Amino acid sequence: MDKFVIWGGERLRGEAEVSGSKNSVLPILAAAILGETPSVIRKAPWLRDVDTMLMILEATGVTTKRSFDGDVTIDPSTLENCEAPYELVRKMRSSIYVLGALLGRLGKAVVSLPGGCVIGPRPIDLHIKGLSQLGATIEKHHGYLIVEAKKLKGARIFLGGPFGSSVGATVNVMLGAVKAEGETIIESAACEPEVADVVNFLTKMGAKITGAGTPTLVIEGQKALHGAEHEVIPDRIEAGTFMIAAAATGGDVTVLGAEPRHLEAVTAKLKDAGAEVSIGDKRIRVQASDARRATDLTTLAYPGFPTDLQAQFMTMMCVTPGVSRIVEKIYPDRFMHVGELTRLGADITMDTNSALVRGVNGLSGAPVMASDLRASAALIIAGLVAEGETLIHRIYHIDRGYMDIESKLARLGAKIRRLKSD
Ligand code: EPU
Repeated sequence: MDKFVIWGGERLRGEAEVSGSKNSVLPILAAAILGETPSVIRKAPWLRDVDTMLMILEATGVTTKRSFDGDVTIDPSTLENCEAPYELVRKMRSSIYVLGALLGRLGKAVVSLPGGCVIGPRPIDLHIKGLSQLGATIEKHHGYLIVEAKKLKGARIFLGGPFGSSVGATVNVMLGAVKAEGETIIESAACEPEVADVVNFLTKMGAKITGAGTPTLVIEGQKALHGAEHEVIPDRIEAGTFMIAAAATGGDVTVLGAEPRHLEAVTAKLKDAGAEVSIGDKRIRVQASDARRATDLTTLAYPGFPTDLQAQFMTMMCVTPGVSRIVEKIYPDRFMHVGELTRLGADITMDTNSALVRGVNGLSGAPVMASDLRASAALIIAGLVAEGETLIHRIYHIDRGYMDIESKLARLGAKIRRLKSD
């Protein structure tokens, strides 16, 4: 397994180009199979999760083609099999998007149930509730979900859960509803930009959807959809990771190709923490100041501060004077990074879903273990600020969601190297 070795202490400076959004492209690739003709998805990031989604689609008979400039072509005309096998689904939870897409296209989906997850329990009860309200029957057999409907029928569906709206359930229900007979109204729909991006793509395919980016989506089902061309939105979590890394290392970084409107909560929190943030057209510049301040933070559904940047922000707070309280409201157990940050010298006390971070003067490099995608990003930031050498094991997690991260960081002056496994 590859590792990263980082020699800390460099202030990041320069420009970093953001790739297409992982969490947009995955549902969009699944949605493409709803069309009768091929779709071309532009700016698809070159990531392991994208590879996995393409393998799942190919397992259903769909033809996929990928070019080095980021275009992915999906030809669903050869789709023949409604099963997504365990060997692929177990690699990535967002495989669950093929549930709604296969149901909408073939009237049947057999998808391996996603298993446990290191960031905490991730149920799919809302996906099931929504699809069954569209008229699908749902059974579980030998670890597989079997979802079937002779005819999907539009319905009024409330999708709020114990932790608010669900990105995945909103998308899955929408993928069924665009092919259902009549009107579907989804209440308490997720408002994340990635959901709105899926709506934009489906609209280009001939779907009729209003309310993108709001908690109420109204969908007029269509008999058939066609292929379309679409460019995915920039990855706001990758952009936010660079913004936080800039502030944490005392640097000055301009993130290019980002969508500032998608990052307002992050911008506000960085300003609270003492950084200077200036916004331009598709660019955000973060300049660290000497007066970094402790800041409290609560993760919330969009437009709140994203859970996918909680670990990275916590890392910055570890070396910020004062006491910061970080509350996780989306995944109450998403704190696997705390133990590793503590190994580097951080002072963090946990209390159920909140962490009290007392800023220390500095971190000191050590070997650490990445536990999931965003925890890996947090450990990279920790390695960049730590004194000496940090060795990060299990970085295959980072390859799931950050394209070329080591070269992008190296261009900003970071001393980082990938050690390839034999
Ligand atoms: N939830 C339920 N029941 C459900 C579905 C969700 O209770 O049926 C709960 C979850 O347990 C969680 C909350 O609702 O507490 C929100 O989960 P959501 O369904 O919105 O998450 P998701 O769709 O599984 C996506 C991203 C995650 C991101 C979350 C929250 C993708 C592929 N994944 O997951 O991204 O953290 O939304 O914004 O879009 C990541 O990129 O590292 C990542 C984990």
